[in-house]
Amino acid sequence: MDVVLGIIGGSGLYDLPGLEGTWETIESPWGEPSDSVLRGTLAGTPIVFMPRHGRGHRLGPTQINYRANIDVLKRAGVTDLVSLSACGSLREDLPPGTFVIVDQFIDRTFAREKSFFGTGCVAHVSMAHPVSRDLGDRIEAAAEVSGVKSRRGGTYLAMEGPQFSSLAESHLYRAWGADVIGMTNMPEAKLAREAEISYATVAMVTDFDSWHPDHGEVDIQQIIATMNANGDAARALVQALAVATPPTREVCSAGSDTALEFAIITSPDA
Ligand code: ADE
Repeated sequence: MDVVLGIIGGSGLYDLPGLEGTWETIESPWGEPSDSVLRGTLAGTPIVFMPRHGRGHRLGPTQINYRANIDVLKRAGVTDLVSLSACGSLREDLPPGTFVIVDQFIDRTFAREKSFFGTGCVAHVSMAHPVSRDLGDRIEAAAEVSGVKSRRGGTYLAMEGPQFSSLAESHLYRAWGADVIGMTNMPEAKLAREAEISYATVAMVTDFDSWHPDHGEVDIQQIIATMNANGDAARALVQALAVATPPTREVCSAGSDTALEFAIITSPDA
């Protein structure tokens, strides 16, 4: 299939300098998306960029309409979606500045619409392997080329927010084996799967969450400062990823392109 690379920019990433293109407004029956999308090409690769919180950071993690965002990206033709997201670290060996190429999620969000299905048509997609290995391979290679400090593999715990974790929660998530923590990649990853889009997360570590005895409380000013410092690395990664993206690809080995094939349980006669 022909590849269209989608990029979702999290906190601090509201556009993609270097991407020559135009902002396009795409409507969705699922409601208001976070913003228009920037469509252009980078190193010959067609790219569609969406700022997850809207330009100017107008939407909190609970207020984002994840269904509309994924629907708009699908309508824009996106086949391969990379989420670039600020996150906290739950491990000593993942200090701020590290980019973690996540491969698993724990969903602790509870106040969001999580499915395109449920009324009229019921579907249960598999989330056993929520990210595309092939896309992860390309991101890993791009991180190497662009000199970004990255780690392949890791579990992302999605919390509701907007408050950061208590000390007890932070310890609990560490005990569960989670590696990084953020507020936005769920239900995004679930909806991408339902939309049959290959998905991968680059979790950009900005802080040590609250568990670390030497680093005190999480502070949004410190997170923004680290994000600004990470901005150039994120853009270099996207540029290298665009170079590494083939014009066409085989079917995703994690099954995202065919996620709905055996997922719909509603009878066609119902
Ligand atoms: N985003 C950045 N740092 C975070 C943290 N510690 N917890 C949740 N979301 C975050």
